Amino acid sequence: ATALFAASAQTFPGSRPITLVVPFAAGGPTDRVARDLAEAMRKSMGGANFVVENVNGAGGTIGANKVAKAAPDGHTLLLHHIGMAAAPGLYRKLPYKPLEDFDYLGMINEVPMTIIGKPQLAANNYRDLENYIRNNSGKLNIAHAGLGSASHLCGLMWQAAINAKDAMTTIPFGGTAPAMNALMGGQVDMMCDQTTNTTGQIEAGRVKAYAVTTARPLSGNKLLKDYPSLQEMGLKSFNLTIWHGLYAPKGTPPAALAQINAALKLALKDPDFIKRQEGLGAVVVTDNRVEPAAHKAFVAAEIAKLKPVIEAAGKFAD
Ligand code: MLT
Repeated sequence: ATALFAASAQTFPGSRPITLVVPFAAGGPTDRVARDLAEAMRKSMGGANFVVENVNGAGGTIGANKVAKAAPDGHTLLLHHIGMAAAPGLYRKLPYKPLEDFDYLGMINEVPMTIIGKPQLAANNYRDLENYIRNNSGKLNIAHAGLGSASHLCGLMWQAAINAKDAMTTIPFGGTAPAMNALMGGQVDMMCDQTTNTTGQIEAGRVKAYAVTTARPLSGNKLLKDYPSLQEMGLKSFNLTIWHGLYAPKGTPPAALAQINAALKLALKDPDFIKRQEGLGAVVVTDNRVEPAAHKAFVAAEIAKLKPVIEAAGKFAD
């Protein structure tokens, strides 16, 4: 892999760092994917200097907008998740256009989510939890990482699915890393978050787990086998998987895009990257969704799919 880049007399990336913008707080699930991917792409791009920058807030739209407006020279990239497709349905005045303001590089992975609670939550399994929510309607809260975040989207969909739309107050954070600290400390009651962030905390008994959001465990992660899916718990159509993709500002030179996409493909085959991701319940993309055009078509389809889901759940930002 290194030879591929060492031999080619490309000016890109040269010695200048490549900034990988993560639109959520450090220490969260998006950050986890970005740091693991940066490690693998440093190798597959012949030692390129990848720097992860956390730009959080507004459900990932602040970081996404920063990259949309960045110089299109291949030295600023965005690693984002399903929020790339959820934000258009949640923000009436989004400062960027997801399908027009970015060059698409490819899809990275898919991650399940878990419904988790604070250690003291008086519910010991999913059935108890639904009953507890009903019996304490209006008294409980659920954390998320801002409108357009995966945790917000999951919370919206879950509350709609259990007819508890107004049963819980939603508490926004600048990412689910700070939300997790509040949950472990008992300051918030519940959260829906990705296994890349929750696996360690559940295994350590620092939070209570109740269910997973994918119809089946996505990888060999043994933890996920201990908990039912929301589908098994009666939410027949519930099947939420959080995918992550890589993006550059529109107008990035095609040669740079081609190099980054080639390095992404090699990174997704990196055994260390795969092992880390699968250990956290994620699966790494192995099909053509890593191709720019296929990923862009996938995101366009996700935007169309999520709009009515979000409309039905009914919480928007102006
Ligand atoms: C994070 O990285 O903090 C999460 O992906 C936020 C979210 O989207 O829930």
